Amino acid sequence: MQITDEQIDSAQSIAEIAELVSNCQRCSLYETKTMDVVGVGSDAAEIFFIGEAPGKKEDLEGEPFIGAAGKFLNELLSTIGLERKDIYIANVLKHRPPNNRDPKPSEAEICWPYLRRQIELINPTLIIFLGRHAMNRFFPELKISEAHGNEFTKQMWGRDQTFLALYHPAAAMYNGSLRETLKGDFARIPEIIKTIKTN
Ligand code: URA
Repeated sequence: MQITDEQIDSAQSIAEIAELVSNCQRCSLYETKTMDVVGVGSDAAEIFFIGEAPGKKEDLEGEPFIGAAGKFLNELLSTIGLERKDIYIANVLKHRPPNNRDPKPSEAEICWPYLRRQIELINPTLIIFLGRHAMNRFFPELKISEAHGNEFTKQMWGRDQTFLALYHPAAAMYNGSLRETLKGDFARIPEIIKTIKTN
């Protein structure tokens, strides 16, 4: 039986989404996955981070951002006084593309209802894109080299939703200048949250 958009839209908890993902055959990635990587963090998180897709370690352990890029993300979070338990984090894709290839547009499209429902359930103040794949899901016209460090607002889920675009930690961690840029963009997060809350 194929999982339908309607089933995903009517999920009432992250656990229900996880159950659907575990039975998902909407694209072919289930054939090569080891584990589902649905998302992790606080159900009451103010910040929802979106990455690209599970890598090798994430596929083996079932949790997003636990490899080298995840360690760098943890370091960045600590610079603004946050820990993983304070945020929510998920990917555009819930299953790993073989050999870490880029997500195909068709896979991102097919997987989108899961991410959309996760966001609706968490109801975050700020959504942060980690890299272009996450950003282009919402803003296909933007380029990460121009958009990084900037906020964007769009009517979604019946309200104004604010987004911040950042470079992907994996792209920035071994590149001195991108690393500094990402740190600088990250430092803006507390001020952005404050502004949204006072408006
Ligand atoms: N990169 C991502 O985009 N997501 C992960 O979960 C791990 C690495």
